[in-house]
Amino acid sequence: MQQPARYLITSALPYANGPKHIGHLAGAYLPADIYVRYLRSAGRDVVFVCGSDEHGAAITMQAMKEKTTPREIVDKYHALLKSNMADLGISFDIYHRTSDPLHHETAREFFQSLNDRGLLEKKSTEQFYDEQTETFLADRYIMGTCPVCGYDGAYGDQCEKCGTSLSPEQLIQPRSTLSGAPPVKKSTTHWYLPLDKYETFLREWILEKHGGDWKANVVGQCKSWLDAGLQPRAVTRDLDWGVRLPEGLPGSEGKVLYVWFDAPIGYISATKQWAADHQKDWQPYWNSPDTKLVHFIGKDNIVFHCIIFPVMLSLKGHILPDNVPSNEFMNLEGDKMSTSRGWSIEMDEYIRDFVHTENGGPMMVDALRYYLTAIAPETKDSEFTWKGFQDALNSELVAIFGNFVNRTFVLMHKLCQGKVPALHPSCLDDADKAMFAAMKETAGQVSSGIEQYRFRDALFDVIDLARKGNRYMQEKEPWILAKKLEQNDATEEEKKIAREKIDNCLHTCLQLTANLAILMNPFLPNTARSMCRMMKVVEKMLDWENAGKPKLLSVGYSLRAPELLFRKMEDSEVLIQLEKLKAKSEALQQQKNMNEQTTTETTQPAHTALKPEIVFDDFAKIDLRTGTIVSAEKVEKADKLLKLEVDLGFEKRTIVSGIAQHVNPTEIVGKQVIVVANLAPRKMRGIESNGMILMAEDAQDKLHFVSADAAAGNGSTVS
Ligand code: MF3
Ligand code: ZN
Repeated sequence: MQQPARYLITSALPYANGPKHIGHLAGAYLPADIYVRYLRSAGRDVVFVCGSDEHGAAITMQAMKEKTTPREIVDKYHALLKSNMADLGISFDIYHRTSDPLHHETAREFFQSLNDRGLLEKKSTEQFYDEQTETFLADRYIMGTCPVCGYDGAYGDQCEKCGTSLSPEQLIQPRSTLSGAPPVKKSTTHWYLPLDKYETFLREWILEKHGGDWKANVVGQCKSWLDAGLQPRAVTRDLDWGVRLPEGLPGSEGKVLYVWFDAPIGYISATKQWAADHQKDWQPYWNSPDTKLVHFIGKDNIVFHCIIFPVMLSLKGHILPDNVPSNEFMNLEGDKMSTSRGWSIEMDEYIRDFVHTENGGPMMVDALRYYLTAIAPETKDSEFTWKGFQDALNSELVAIFGNFVNRTFVLMHKLCQGKVPALHPSCLDDADKAMFAAMKETAGQVSSGIEQYRFRDALFDVIDLARKGNRYMQEKEPWILAKKLEQNDATEEEKKIAREKIDNCLHTCLQLTANLAILMNPFLPNTARSMCRMMKVVEKMLDWENAGKPKLLSVGYSLRAPELLFRKMEDSEVLIQLEKLKAKSEALQQQKNMNEQTTTETTQPAHTALKPEIVFDDFAKIDLRTGTIVSAEKVEKADKLLKLEVDLGFEKRTIVSGIAQHVNPTEIVGKQVIVVANLAPRKMRGIESNGMILMAEDAQDKLHFVSADAAAGNGSTVS
C-alpha cells in the first residue's frame, strides 16, 4: 500500500470538568502518543491534535456542584489537563479548547453549511421539561432507571453502569437532576441530523470497507447500532452554555449546538489553530484523500466517532478516518475505575506522588507509560494493580532492560577503557551474528506492531530483545574472558582471542543498546533520551530509519558513565498507595452519604406531625361523600379561591375552595372529588360555601385531589 502523504492523529477531547485518571490515559492518549512518536521518528508528516471539551452537561453540572460558573470550571480544568498531559509526555502538537472563539466559529459554520444545504431537518417534539427550574431536560439533566441493566442512576444519554446509549424516553421513572422532580412533556423545536438516510453509506464504509481492518470490538458495536436502525439525531439543545446557533436563524434563540456535534469539530478547529501558529495550511489535513486520519478513543465514544461524526464529515466534504482504534476499559484493584467514587488514580495524583518528587522525575513517567502499555486494554478490559505495577517496574524494566544497558556500560568502562571496541570479523561467531539478526528482526516487528495499533506486542518485542541481550552476555561471560588476559600461563594467541571475543561481545551489546534506544523511544521517550546522553549521541540517532542497523556507534568513540535508567519500587510504596486508594474512596463515599442526607433533609422535611388522637365516634360524625366537579371559576379579587359546582348525585352544591393556585379551573371539570358534606355553611367573599373538598398536600406544599374509584357513583358515602 502506498504511504500516506500526511497523518492527522486525534485523541478524544477530555471534558474539562475535573482531573482525568490513568484509565483515560491508557485508553486514548498514551497509545496515540506512541503512534505519533513512532511516525515522527520515521520522518512522516504528522499532526497530533487534542484539546479540552468544554461544553455540555458535564461542565454545567460540575459548575453547579462546585457552586461556580461553567467558565471558571473550564478554565481551571483545562489548565490542569493541559499540564498533566505534558507532564506525562503526551506530545500533542496542539492542545486546544472548544470554548475558543475559533472553535465557536468553526462549529457554527459547519452547522450553517449543513443547514443551508438542507441537510438538517427541523422538527418540533415533546421533550421532558422541569417546571420548577424551567429547563428542558436532555442528556445528563435527566436520570432514571436503565431499561437494560436496571441501574437507577442512568442518564438520559447513557447508562454509565452498562454503557448503553439511551434517550430520555427510555428511562424508567425519569427525574430531573436539577430538582429531583418528575418531568412533564413540553414542545420544543430542534435541528436533526437524519442519520437514517446514511445507513447504506455507513454499512458500506464500516462493514464492507473496514470490517476486516478495524478492531473487532469497534466493528461489532457499529454493526449493532446499524442493525438496531438509525434515527435522526437532534444536534441542538435548549441550553445557554455552548456554541450559539448562527445569527438570525429563525427559532434559534436560547439554543446551542449539542455538545457531541461541536466537540469532534474541535479536532478541526485545533488543526486550524496549529496551522495558524506554524504558518501552515490546515486544509490538506482534512480535505485531501492522501491524508491518513486516525481517531484514538475509549470504547464509550465509538458511536460518535464511527457513525455520527463520519456522516457530518462526509456531508461537509472532509476525509473520513482510516481507523478508530478504540480501547476497552482499565479497571483498578478489582473494581471499575471512577473518579466520582474515588476509586481511581488521577493523572495529577500520580504526578504529585511519583514524578514531582526527589526520587521520581521522568523515569517514573516512563515507568507508568510502560505498565499502562503492558496492560493496555486493547482487546478486553484489563486491570491496574499496584503490585502489578511494582512487578512490571522491578522485574521487567529494572531487571531486564535497565540491567542490560547498565551491565553493558559498566563492562565497557571496565574492560574497554570506556570506548566502543572494534568488531573482529575473524572471531565473529553464530551467537554474535544471531544478535545482529535479532536487532533487525525486532525492528521490523515493532514497526508493524505499532502500525497495526498492537502496542503491547510491540513493547514486549522490545523487552524481549533486551532479554536476548542479557542471555547473550551471560553466555559470552566477558568477565571470565578478562581473567584470561591476566593469566600468566595463557599464550599470546589465547590472550588475543580472549581480547577479540571481549571486544566483539561489548561491541555487539553497545550496538544493541543503541537499537534498544530507538525501539523504546516511542514508548519511553525519557529513557531513550537518557540513553542518548550516555552514548553521547544526538537524538537524531533515534530516527526510525536507524532501527535494526548494526553500526550506530563508531569504534573508538568514548562513552559516558552509565546513568540509572529506572529505580525499583518498594513494597512500602505499594502499601501506601493501596491505603491511599481505600481512604480516598471511603472519604468520598462518606461525603456522598452526607450530601444525600442533607438533600433529603432539605427537599423532604420530616413528615407533618400527627394530630392528637381521636375516638371512632369523632370520626363517624364526619359525612364524606363522592362528587363530581361540574363547573369551576375563579372568585373575583381572591387569587386563592375557586367557586365550584359539585354534583353529589342527590343534589348540586356550591363549594368555595382555596385551591386556585394549584389547579387550572378549565382542567378540573369532570374531576371526581371527596366532599365533607355536613360541614356547616360558611360565607367566603360573599359566596356561601356548602362543604369542603378533600385535598392531599405533599412535601412541597402542593395540593392534589383525593378521589375514589370512578365506579363509586356520585353521593357514595366514604368511611
Ligand atoms: N469529552 C468526550 C468524553 O470524554 C469525548 C469527546 S471526543 C470528541 O467522552 F470527539 F468529541 F471530541
Ligand atoms: Zn444500564
